[in-house]
Amino acid sequence: MKKEKCKKKQSKMIIEPDGNLAMNLVRVTEAAAISAARFMGTGDKEGGDGAAVDAMRKFLKTVDMRGVVVIGEGEKDEAPMLFNGESVGTGHGAEIDIAVDPVEGTNLLAQGRPNSIAVIGAAERGSMWNPGNSFYMNKLVVERKARHVIDIRLSPEENLKRIAEALNRPISDLTVFVLQKDRHKELVNSIRKVGARITMHTDGDVMGALMAAIPGTGVDVLMGIGGTPEGVIAACAVKALNGGMQGMRTPLLKEEINQLKIDKIDLNEVLTLDTLVNSDNAFFAATGITEGSFLEGVRFDNDGGVTTHSVVIRSKTGSMRYIKGIHQLEKSILV
Ligand code: FBP
Repeated sequence: MKKEKCKKKQSKMIIEPDGNLAMNLVRVTEAAAISAARFMGTGDKEGGDGAAVDAMRKFLKTVDMRGVVVIGEGEKDEAPMLFNGESVGTGHGAEIDIAVDPVEGTNLLAQGRPNSIAVIGAAERGSMWNPGNSFYMNKLVVERKARHVIDIRLSPEENLKRIAEALNRPISDLTVFVLQKDRHKELVNSIRKVGARITMHTDGDVMGALMAAIPGTGVDVLMGIGGTPEGVIAACAVKALNGGMQGMRTPLLKEEINQLKIDKIDLNEVLTLDTLVNSDNAFFAATGITEGSFLEGVRFDNDGGVTTHSVVIRSKTGSMRYIKGIHQLEKSILV
């Protein structure tokens, strides 16, 4: 009888993801970045994405976890994808929700512009927000010291005033990362009105969120509308860094607007960091593909060597590691 009870208890025992997972996730983003980097400047958006997806899938198979892809990029534009619901990992170990973006900034890569990255977020099973039929959301991200003062329902001006006060800096010192989109004209005017600085990027708001959540990167705030999958991935990083993030669904596409109406979705709901990732055991890893101000890109060296630069963050310990990887392609399972 006792034995039976003990067996039952063991089968219910939850295996928690540990630090090894963090290091293994970097191997996954490194592989994706190396494969994608060959497509820099080729104009071939799908080619780069496809190569990164294949490499990610191959390496994810080697990671000890029972992972399920919750956020697989691609539904928005039918890109090649690691699809939602796909099982990844060896099938042993912790149960994990996985959010991937094999190439965050597919246009940046195809055009050979800075700041495209390979990214992955992970957290305990059941903890990641499912955007459903929602493709776009407004986002506000700051570092830890300002996390309690932000309120996405207030104007950008009010938020910037509060953030400046929390950071004990003049507003004119703050730099706000904004995606360069027509939809952001009003936002840009608001930011200019209070005198904050703007760094404008055509794509890549995961990188913007990451930089905003890490003090001293040269970006203090991320504001504006971007993809919902990217929002959840960014939330993994912000959670791991103990920063602040809020979002709000902001449908832009006609079918998206209609579908959210049919689904009776409350567009005024504030998506808190805990809504986006409801776990204190979150992981985030990113590797630079093209050169960037925060992460250097993939460099192909002499004699088949390849250098990568990555960052990996784990919320449980609060540790953030910058990893320079030097790889020998001929010995890699990538070839
Ligand atoms: P992709 O890598 O899928 O091209 O996404 C890049 C990106 O700029 C994201 O960083 C951002 O969240 C989203 O696209 C914005 O979408 P859109 O370009 O449709 O406004």
